[in-house]
Amino acid sequence: MKHLIDIKDLSIEEIDNLIKVAKDIIANPEKYSHKCDGKKLATLFFEPSTRTRLSFESAMLSLGGNVLGFSEASSSSVSKGESVSDTIRVVGCYCDIIAMRHPKEGAPFVASIKSTVPIINAGDGGHNHPTQTLTDLLTIECEKNRLDNLTIGLCGDLKFGRTVHSLITAMCRYKNIKFVLISPDELKLPEYVKKGVLEKNNIEYCETKDIEEYMGDLDILYMTRVQKERFFNEADYIRLKDYYILNKNKLKKAKKDLCILHPLPRVNEISTDVDDDPRACYFRQANYGRYIRMALILKMLEVK
Ligand code: CP
Repeated sequence: MKHLIDIKDLSIEEIDNLIKVAKDIIANPEKYSHKCDGKKLATLFFEPSTRTRLSFESAMLSLGGNVLGFSEASSSSVSKGESVSDTIRVVGCYCDIIAMRHPKEGAPFVASIKSTVPIINAGDGGHNHPTQTLTDLLTIECEKNRLDNLTIGLCGDLKFGRTVHSLITAMCRYKNIKFVLISPDELKLPEYVKKGVLEKNNIEYCETKDIEEYMGDLDILYMTRVQKERFFNEADYIRLKDYYILNKNKLKKAKKDLCILHPLPRVNEISTDVDDDPRACYFRQANYGRYIRMALILKMLEVK
C-alpha cells in the first residue's frame, strides 16, 4: 500500500502519468464515471478547507464512489482526546482511502504508519500540500504546454506557504527551471527548502522584496496569501498581510503569456481587477484540482 505524504513520494514518471490521465478525464469524463463504483473516500479535515476537501469529494463522486468524513476536528472524537492514530485506524474500517488535512506538520505521516488504507496528505501545517502541487503542475502543463524551461516567481508568504514548498520540490526535477523568490524579510523561504532543495539541486534562484523587479522575466507568477493561522503574533500578521497587492498596474511589464496562479483562498494579494485578465489562471487552476485528484484516487486505489 502506498501513501502520498510528500510530492517526492511520486516519481516524475508517475506525475507525468497522473497528468496524462487527468487530461483524458477532462476530454472523456463519461469513460471514468463508474471506475470507483462501491468505493469510499473519507475526508478527515482537522483544519478548514474549501477547494481541497470539496474537490476530493467531487472527484470521488464523479468516479461513481461515495464520500464520508468531517470538516472540523470539533465534530470528531479527537475533541474528546482521541489520538490521530486511533482515529485513522478506526476510519480505515469504514472506507477504502483517506484524504487528511491537519494543522500539525507530519500528522499525515504519523497517521500513515498505523493506517490500513492509503492516506493522502491534504495539507499539514506549514509543511507540504502535495495534491495542490499536482493541481499546479496540471495547470502549468495545460496553460503553458510544458513543465520545463520556466522562470517562476513565487510571491508572498514563502515561509509558511506549504504550497510553495511542495511546488519548489516538484519543479526542481524539471529542466531549466529558475525561481524568483519575492517576499518581505520576515516571510522568506525557509533555509531547509533553500539549502536542502534549491541549492542541493543546483537550481538558479534570486530573492527580492520588489514584485515588479523581475516581472518582465516571469513565465509563471505564483501569488500566495499571508498565512494568518501560522502567526504567533497578530501585530506581525497585520503589518505584513497587505505587503503585496497585485493589480493591473503592476502587470504592465509582464509577458503577454504570463500565467498568474494562486492556490486560493485569496484575501487581498490579488486585486479583483486582475480577474478578467486572460493571464489570471487561478480559478481555472481550482477547476483542474478536481481532475488531478480523480486521477490520483484511481492510481492509489489501483483502478485500471
Ligand atoms: N488551495 C487550498 O488548499 O485551498 P483550501 O484551503 O480551500 O482547501
